[in-house]
Amino acid sequence: MNSVINNSFKLKDKDFSNFIEASQLPRHRWYYYKEGFSPSLVKEAIETYEIKPNQLVLDPFNGSGTVTLTASENNIRSVGIEVNPFTAFVSKTKALNTKKKVLSELFEKTYEKINIGKEFPELEKYSTFTELSNKKKWLFNLEVLRAFYGGYSFVEKIKSNASDLIKLVLLTSVMEVANAKKDGKCLRYKTKWQKIQYNKNDFIKAFISNYIKIEQDIESSKIKNQPIIYNSDTRNALNNNKNGKFDLIITSPPYLNTFDYTDIYRPELFLGKFILNSEALSQLRLKTIRSHIQVKWKLPNVSELDSILLNDVFKRLSKNKELLMHPRIPQMILAYFEDMKLIFGALSKHSNKNAHLWMIVSNSAYANEEIPVDLILSDIATKNGWYLKEIGVLRNIRKRKTKYSPDIKTLRESVIILEKK
Ligand SMILES: C[S@@+](CC[C@H](N)C(=O)[O-])C[C@H]1O[C@@H](n2cnc3c(N)ncnc32)[C@H](O)[C@@H]1O
Repeated sequence: MNSVINNSFKLKDKDFSNFIEASQLPRHRWYYYKEGFSPSLVKEAIETYEIKPNQLVLDPFNGSGTVTLTASENNIRSVGIEVNPFTAFVSKTKALNTKKKVLSELFEKTYEKINIGKEFPELEKYSTFTELSNKKKWLFNLEVLRAFYGGYSFVEKIKSNASDLIKLVLLTSVMEVANAKKDGKCLRYKTKWQKIQYNKNDFIKAFISNYIKIEQDIESSKIKNQPIIYNSDTRNALNNNKNGKFDLIITSPPYLNTFDYTDIYRPELFLGKFILNSEALSQLRLKTIRSHIQVKWKLPNVSELDSILLNDVFKRLSKNKELLMHPRIPQMILAYFEDMKLIFGALSKHSNKNAHLWMIVSNSAYANEEIPVDLILSDIATKNGWYLKEIGVLRNIRKRKTKYSPDIKTLRESVIILEKK
């Protein structure tokens, strides 16, 4: 099976599986999404199969919407499915059009409201949101949160494209002046965050500079073919697909790395009122692919997975539980592939003859061994409606040294290229 791995893949080592390129491009740059990939990768797939405007592109794990926005920019119809309501909002908003004049008027009014500020009663004492929560560390200085909410509580009452665009500016800006920042799996407090003492003016500066990017791009990069974005769980969203069959699927599912996206985007989820309490957050976690262990999901049905490779990994890890950071890891691995099996089947069912699927994934490390996620997924895909064309290596990611897998220095990140059976 190793011969299917193309180590000299033409897209290798071009930074196509990260967000570097997107963070410089019109519209894509409106929200820095750390886990996103590059529009060039999407364009490459679209060009490879000569996808036409009347054909349909899908991203079932749409994240911040790189695939759908790139399809739109190339005037191609597209559908995105994303479970996290905040990221689904980012994806939708990045493709919105409005008149510059309407946007700048709303910006001016919001600016005034920010200056006045407003109490945010639901969050000021909640969890670690501000110093009023009586914790040793807090995410936002009270002054910053109130400035944010002065603006947000004003625009949230207005239902328009311009209002969604300003909401995005507010959310991006407040995160820039938060006391913690995203770092791998968690939010890490900035060094000297207490000394920095972010205040209202810092927030306003961020608000202006983020607004300028949108104002510069909004008319120069108009979107003609709006993507359709669903905020739902891909595992059942496709059952109700009314958009017709897909011709090209490009996607990057959550990696098998215990990374919980709902956790890392918790501030934005609460700030934007996409979720209102911790119970809603737990419910959201249960709707995500089982690639993490923070919530008690339904246990996998072991007998259903007929992959020799997977069973081999499962048996070895189950025997070596003391080498794992959590005893539920073997179950999580099975659950992950069970979810992905369901998805491969549904994607095949809803695809046209000759459709292609590009899936970007990375391998994982557990109990000091590399789990060949790309090979296992390919194995499962070929039993659930797809032919394997190749596994193109995108790069070998340098891995931080950990107590549990000290000898694993790099992990393969690749694109699995499949064709519908
Ligand atoms: C690696 S990210 C995709 C990033 C995307 N390619 C981009 O450029 O922005 C994976 C996404 O899958 C989403 N996700 C996890 N479980 C899901 C589910 N059951 N249905 C739909 N989306 C899900 C996560 O919220 C996350 O945004």
